[in-house]
Amino acid sequence: MMDMFHIMSEEKGEYILEVKGLHAYYTSTKGLVKAVRDVSFNVREGEAVGIFGESGSGKTTIALAILGIFEDIAKFGSSSGNEENRRLWNERMKVKKKGRSMADVGEDLPGVEGEIFYKGKDLLSLSDKEFRKIRGAEITYVPQSTTRSLNPYTNIGLQTAEALWAHDDDDVLYEREVLRRVLQALDLVELGDVDIRKALKPKEFSMGEDQRILIAMALIMNPAFIILDEPTTALDVGVQHRIMEAIRIMKEKMNLSMLIISNDHGLLADSADRIGVMTGGKLVEFADVVTILKRPSHPFTRAFLLSNPSMEMMRKIREKGLLLRGIPGTPPDLTNTPQGCIFHQRCEYCVDICKEQEPTYREIEPDHWLACHRFGELPDFEL
Ligand SMILES: Nc1ncnc2c1ncn2[C@@H]1O[C@H](COP(=O)(O)OP(=O)(O)OP(=O)(O)O)[C@@H](O)[C@H]1O
Ligand code: SF4
Ligand SMILES: [Mg+2]
Repeated sequence: MMDMFHIMSEEKGEYILEVKGLHAYYTSTKGLVKAVRDVSFNVREGEAVGIFGESGSGKTTIALAILGIFEDIAKFGSSSGNEENRRLWNERMKVKKKGRSMADVGEDLPGVEGEIFYKGKDLLSLSDKEFRKIRGAEITYVPQSTTRSLNPYTNIGLQTAEALWAHDDDDVLYEREVLRRVLQALDLVELGDVDIRKALKPKEFSMGEDQRILIAMALIMNPAFIILDEPTTALDVGVQHRIMEAIRIMKEKMNLSMLIISNDHGLLADSADRIGVMTGGKLVEFADVVTILKRPSHPFTRAFLLSNPSMEMMRKIREKGLLLRGIPGTPPDLTNTPQGCIFHQRCEYCVDICKEQEPTYREIEPDHWLACHRFGELPDFEL
């Protein structure tokens, strides 16, 4: 199976990012939160991959792991007064130092495990210093929540410029070039009218404007790879559409590769080449955008699309007599994940094996990956 994967990669372009067997566990007062479990996917050069899935399924956690900031954030957020959690993090440190894994020590631990290859380099083996050179320069990030990211006391133009200066170790960027790039980036997110020399404070901006500034900051670095986490949630639909269009044009021009995290299939339909689908910390399906949004195979992908259809989907659903409803039950508790398939408690096709064995994530046709025991037995489905 792996060989085939690699043969195909050569045909369709090199991978800029390859995530293999990624695990990312938080600590909490209820125990370990298994936010991402054994997730594998890749992004080809110049491609936009969408990560689509329900709230709490681990999408942002994947971004934090790629950016090398997961453990700092997870440790910071963990209940510091909790003795057991402290022990678990200490254990993680020891295991990491020895280059060992959870499997080697036979205990589930917080932190990140797996492999994340960026341009062939395993990011998880880089030192903090090496990582800093890549993060914020070659790989940039537009975070999900804008509230803590912008410093409310600096001039917005300056702040955007700061993102540039911070990575200009050799002082090669002249002031005029910085200003040009800042204006260009602000223009792209429709903030070109803002007089950046004025003492405009970000706190005077709306959430939507904040979000656009963060997008501008991520773009002016001329990155090779950009991670957008729910990039347009605070924007109204018209602006949302135009900004995604501007990003798409940038992507083509600069051969930018992207990871776009969203639970909005409309946004992904417009911007993603391939989409991975997450529920309960697992990637359950991964394929091209048409397969995922029109002819998905996984019962979760089907149910998730039907639970939140677009207008066009509504029409098709009615025509085909499909049942329009929310997914029954609640997402799995990630501190106590069920045995077997992650979706079995909510799946209408669940049989005994689904409750006992975790389905393998396998390639059922070229470039279409699926984790379901009952592939081939499920009814046809098309939206
Ligand atoms: N700092 C933290 N400490 C403990 N658990 C956390 C922490 N951050 C997130 N989690 C948990 O990890 C799981 C995955 O969270 P994540 O933020 O990755 O989900 P998401 O798919 O991005 O959700 P959303 O669509 O709501 O942004 C959730 O169950 C969440 O409650
Ligand atoms: S493995 Fe079983 S429970 Fe899981 S999605 Fe497939 S049919 Fe449903
Ligand atoms: Mg998120």
